[in-house]
Amino acid sequence: MSPSPTGEVLISSERLAGRVTELGAQISRDYADKDLVMVGVLRGAVVFIADLLRSLDVACEIDFMAVSSYGSSRDSSGVVRILKDLDDSITGRDVLIVEDIVDSGLTLNYLMRNLRARDPASLEVCALLTKPERRRVDVPIRYTGFEIPNTFVVGYGLDHAQQYRHLAHVAELPEDVDPGSGTR
Ligand code: PRP
Repeated sequence: MSPSPTGEVLISSERLAGRVTELGAQISRDYADKDLVMVGVLRGAVVFIADLLRSLDVACEIDFMAVSSYGSSRDSSGVVRILKDLDDSITGRDVLIVEDIVDSGLTLNYLMRNLRARDPASLEVCALLTKPERRRVDVPIRYTGFEIPNTFVVGYGLDHAQQYRHLAHVAELPEDVDPGSGTR
């Protein structure tokens, strides 16, 4: 893979687009007769959910939550705070949580427990990236984009210290950048 202005390209924009199209087709089939609400987890999932939404051919609403589980350290504290809650009720609806990345699984574990308590008709997860090596709690991911190794990645919505979200591809952080000051 060619080098990028950040680090090595891990997943090109072409591969991302292809996989998002596949996920969109699969979700469209599975939710054809459902009442789909996609819940994007701010901020990292914004780029992914925007593309995923446009790859669907079923009726769908979107809503967003913002949570904070990391503070300023790289490793998850496991303590999750809701910074922004959903705007609308999900009771009786078919909810699909859309995440950019699942690392320890602690954020998703909290979110699933929190949203399940609101009595949705169904609750599933779509994650663009997952790092199985880092998992600390088992979380059921119905739709996965890519499994990646335990390396700090940026781009396509993912940040390091709020930078690099604009990249059209997913890249590794360059070795001369200290990931310790990042958030994931
Ligand atoms: C990322 C990601 C998940 C969480 C996953 O968010 O979007 O919410 O970390 O990690 P976990 O599986 O270890 O809980 P981040 O805190 O980087 O915030 P952001 O989406 O605003 O960039």
